[in-house]
Amino acid sequence: MFSQQQDNMEVTALCTKLLLIVMMLLCEQDHKVNAASLLIHPNRAQFFVYEAITFYCEGVSYCEIVHESKGQISSCNKTNKRTSTGSSCTITNVYTDDSGKYWFDAEGGNKSNSVNIIVSDGSVILEIPALPVMKGETVTLRCRNKTTSSQILAHFYHYGEWIISSSTGNMIMYNVSKSDEGLYKCNNSGAGESAESWLIIKDGQTETVSFPCKETVVFSPSFNPWIISTVLFAVLLVFVGLLHFVRSYWHRVVSAPRSESGSTGNQTGSESVNPTSLWCCNKKKQKQKVLERELTEGGALKDKFPSLIVN
Ligand SMILES: *[C@@H]1O[C@H](CO)[C@@H](O)[C@H](O)[C@H]1NC(C)=O
Ligand SMILES: *[C@@H]1O[C@H](CO)[C@@H](O)[C@H](O)[C@H]1NC(C)=O
Ligand SMILES: *[C@@H]1O[C@H](CO)[C@@H](O)[C@H](O)[C@H]1NC(C)=O
Ligand SMILES: *[C@@H]1O[C@H](CO)[C@@H](O)[C@H](O)[C@H]1NC(C)=O
Ligand SMILES: *[C@@H]1O[C@H](CO)[C@@H](O)[C@H](O)[C@H]1NC(C)=O
Repeated sequence: MFSQQQDNMEVTALCTKLLLIVMMLLCEQDHKVNAASLLIHPNRAQFFVYEAITFYCEGVSYCEIVHESKGQISSCNKTNKRTSTGSSCTITNVYTDDSGKYWFDAEGGNKSNSVNIIVSDGSVILEIPALPVMKGETVTLRCRNKTTSSQILAHFYHYGEWIISSSTGNMIMYNVSKSDEGLYKCNNSGAGESAESWLIIKDGQTETVSFPCKETVVFSPSFNPWIISTVLFAVLLVFVGLLHFVRSYWHRVVSAPRSESGSTGNQTGSESVNPTSLWCCNKKKQKQKVLERELTEGGALKDKFPSLIVN
């Protein structure tokens, strides 16, 4: 009878273990998915000298902007600001040698996406989004003369080939598709030519989905939240079902000959495997508490899974 009880406890411990592992994997997944992203304001790839650029480091508390050749931008710690979703850093008065690739180092040694900037001391720039544009969106390219904000006649080029001339200086692309991707420049008759910059078109749409491990997470389309929810729900159902089965089985075995051992067994059972108390990934402390409880009560769990340590 004693070994029977041990078996039951092992089944319970195994279920708990499995659920914990699944949840930890999902939480880890969540961290990967919640990738650090770099935004830029104004969102364009070309600037005149002495303009200001603000970088937004999403998902990190401190914006450490890195330039491909200059390294970490030291002025960032003077202009660093917390935002509701991360932090920002402004570079005032950019100059031509501020051209190039920028990114930030995320916690854990990963890099964010990068953006390419061209700072021009010429008289014409092409205003083109620095960040990738979603398929289907409307994109406006603007050919801008430094000395005048009035409308100018502009010629637009895609991979060096003329595509359109516009008397307003603007080129509007509706419902962009992958074929609109590429290198663009513009030519302002009389004033000169802009540098060439990439327009990147990306598929699908990012969506914001709430997830137990974090309040909000940005999922890419390849990471289907419905699958995750379904799997999680199924695991929970199986777990609750198993728990129920184990308990009733236990009752049948234990309550017949003696009731005291049954009641103590029941207590440990309900204590160690309360599914609602496990559902607390979003609060780290609670998660730790539950884990600690599992580790001390599960006993064998700690020995078998020394990697199950949460900080
Ligand atoms: C800002 O960064 C520079 C270079 O990284 C460093 O020398 C300086 O101490 C930092 N200042 C503050 C206030 O963190
Ligand atoms: C960094 O990124 C790689 C690939 O995107 C990922 O496998 C890894 O887990 C990430 N590391 C951290 C600490 O987020
Ligand atoms: C554009 O700017 C240049 C000088 O930067 C100026 O000479 C020219 O007249 C301007 N062109 C237009 C169309 O305003
Ligand atoms: C946008 O373009 C795609 C093809 O690239 C087409 O299938 C779709 O119907 C277009 N949508 C609109 C609103 O024009
Ligand atoms: C720029 O525009 C002028 C006319 O406005 C044209 O003659 C010239 O070939 C264009 N330059 C380029 C590189 O397309």
